[in-house]
Amino acid sequence: MSVAPRRIKSGIPGLDELIEGGFPEGRSTLISGATGTGKSIFGVQYLYMGAKQFNEPGIYVTLDERPELTRQDMLRFGWDLREFEERNLLYIIDGSIAKIGIPSEEQFSLPVTGFDVDKLLLEILRVSKRINAKRVVIDSIPAMGLNFENENEIRKAILKLSFMLARTGVTSILISEINETSNTFGKYGVEEYVVDGVIVLHYMGSGMQSNRTMHIRKMRATHHSEDLHPLKISDNGIEIHKVDEAYDE
Ligand SMILES: Nc1ncnc2c1ncn2[C@@H]1O[C@H](COP(=O)(O)OP(=O)(O)OP(=O)(O)O)[C@@H](O)[C@H]1O
Ligand SMILES: [Mg+2]
Repeated sequence: MSVAPRRIKSGIPGLDELIEGGFPEGRSTLISGATGTGKSIFGVQYLYMGAKQFNEPGIYVTLDERPELTRQDMLRFGWDLREFEERNLLYIIDGSIAKIGIPSEEQFSLPVTGFDVDKLLLEILRVSKRINAKRVVIDSIPAMGLNFENENEIRKAILKLSFMLARTGVTSILISEINETSNTFGKYGVEEYVVDGVIVLHYMGSGMQSNRTMHIRKMRATHHSEDLHPLKISDNGIEIHKVDEAYDE
């Protein structure tokens, strides 16, 4: 009898075949990389394709970028987020300006005072129940404003987040940020231990062809590719390529 977990397809061309068909259901994966490596596009593509191809409702928690800008940027790839928002297949929770104390004009936002992980979780759980969410993306962990000095507190907060998300049954993506020179895979160096999978995006900004790459650092319960794969961002979003695959720019 097979005990392999059910898979949730990322919807990112070229990725699912490298991870036995998709992310293990109910688990969380960290997407990590330096600035401009495509982490936010990756997260939104996962939700957009989930809604479009699989009819799976998703929640995008944006703590860095304002939702209105994300909606605009994603139109570039032909992804009309509003369409799925109107059909209850996508919810954007705005935490971008609650952090600086300005009320949001969004339908779902965090309270202006005293931003913390518990309030964020409550809001995710509330929306999640309402739409029966299958996918959640948190963009990003460093933007939650955790106390950098206190590793124990950070570990506890991220553990709680990952545990509570798993309990609701959603398959989640947590986005974190690293320097290219860092030898950890998350900003705090603890995220990578708490999550079930880690995918790292790289960008060598030298103007060379195919200078974006991706590798799967870990994926629990999964036989995954160990290669450094070329990654392309085009007007269709992100595509992952095989190592020796020739492709046109
Ligand atoms: N239409 C496009 N075609 C090709 N590349 C694009 C296109 N749109 C965006 N990009 C690339 O994607 C990058 C932005 O990706 P994204 O916002 O997902 O990065 P990020 O890793 O989330 O960055 P940050 O850490 O600043 O949030 C841009 O800097 C650009 O290099
Ligand atoms: Mg981003």
